[in-house]
Amino acid sequence: MKIAKTLGQFIIEKQADFPYAKGELSRLLRDIGIAAKIVNREVNKAGLADILGEAGTINVQGEGQKKLDVYANEQFISALQHGGECCIVASEENDECIHIDSEISKDAKYIVAMDPLDGSSNIDVNVAVGTIFSIYHRKSTEGRATIDDVLQRGTEQVAAGYVIYGSSTMLVYTTGKGVNGFTLDPSIGEFCLSHPDMQIPKDGVIYSINEGYYTHFPDGVKKYIKYCQVEDAATKRPYTSRYIGSMVADLHRNLIKGGIFIYPVTASTPKGKLRLVYECNPMAFIIEQAGGKASNGYQRILELDVEQLHQRSAIFIGSENMVKKAEEMMLCFS
Ligand code: AHG
Ligand code: MN
Ligand code: MN
Ligand code: MN
Repeated sequence: MKIAKTLGQFIIEKQADFPYAKGELSRLLRDIGIAAKIVNREVNKAGLADILGEAGTINVQGEGQKKLDVYANEQFISALQHGGECCIVASEENDECIHIDSEISKDAKYIVAMDPLDGSSNIDVNVAVGTIFSIYHRKSTEGRATIDDVLQRGTEQVAAGYVIYGSSTMLVYTTGKGVNGFTLDPSIGEFCLSHPDMQIPKDGVIYSINEGYYTHFPDGVKKYIKYCQVEDAATKRPYTSRYIGSMVADLHRNLIKGGIFIYPVTASTPKGKLRLVYECNPMAFIIEQAGGKASNGYQRILELDVEQLHQRSAIFIGSENMVKKAEEMMLCFS
């Protein structure tokens, strides 16, 4: 029986792609993998551990924090604080960036932006949730890293990835040389390569959008939804609507099967709901590396100016031809 390659073995093997790297990025990815395994342990026994329900606090987004939001945030920050490779962390759950000033991190050159627990509304109902992370090189060369080190364009990302805590737990990431997926083997506590060189189909028959907000959508989005629902055997329409409410889970399915995920601007979210720095940019990097496309309906996500840590954006992301069609309708009708 072929033994699958572990994440650690794969990272070391790919080290050759980065001749100038001295293993720091490898160690950083290892640290993230460790935190993912700890979070996974709690997610898997959520109903038995005291991590369901509300934490009773409100985050900077104005969202009621779930206990698992707080727990996951603490685990990832702790792993980064003790790993020595990261100098500053930005998180959905923290108003400001967290500086890592420990002795072992004094030469750290990486920035991590993260959504520690994505899909919080699904935690208490046992539906897949995730973690999203994005890694940058610090730009500043002396003193403490600053917010300017974090507010970099998506094109500057060194690596990005997500963990999906689903029927199995997977870690999927890119360092700009394709996308690879690793499945956690609980019997050995290792992420093992299960989905090498992931490619998103150029076309698909799945569209993911919260149609509950239909009346508030831009006309171009309404036109695209109608397009998805028209009978046309040649273009395999009507498409299938699938919406989980966890961005990671919706995008992971579309990455494997093909499809489009849209979170447009709405009346209640005039700038979009999803956060550019730790949701849209990392997922856009991954999907582009898998051969897909990601925009705000008009402009490439990775080229959007990043001005604020918790800045929001509309997002149209997934199979290239489906995103192109939706963008066409946005141009014509919105
Ligand atoms: P988070 O749980 O990290 O706050 O993110 C939730 C996001 C995203 O995961 C999902 O696609 C979207 O919110 C769902 O929003 P609606 O419930 O408005 O559809
Ligand atoms: Mn949230
Ligand atoms: Mn999220
Ligand atoms: Mn979150």
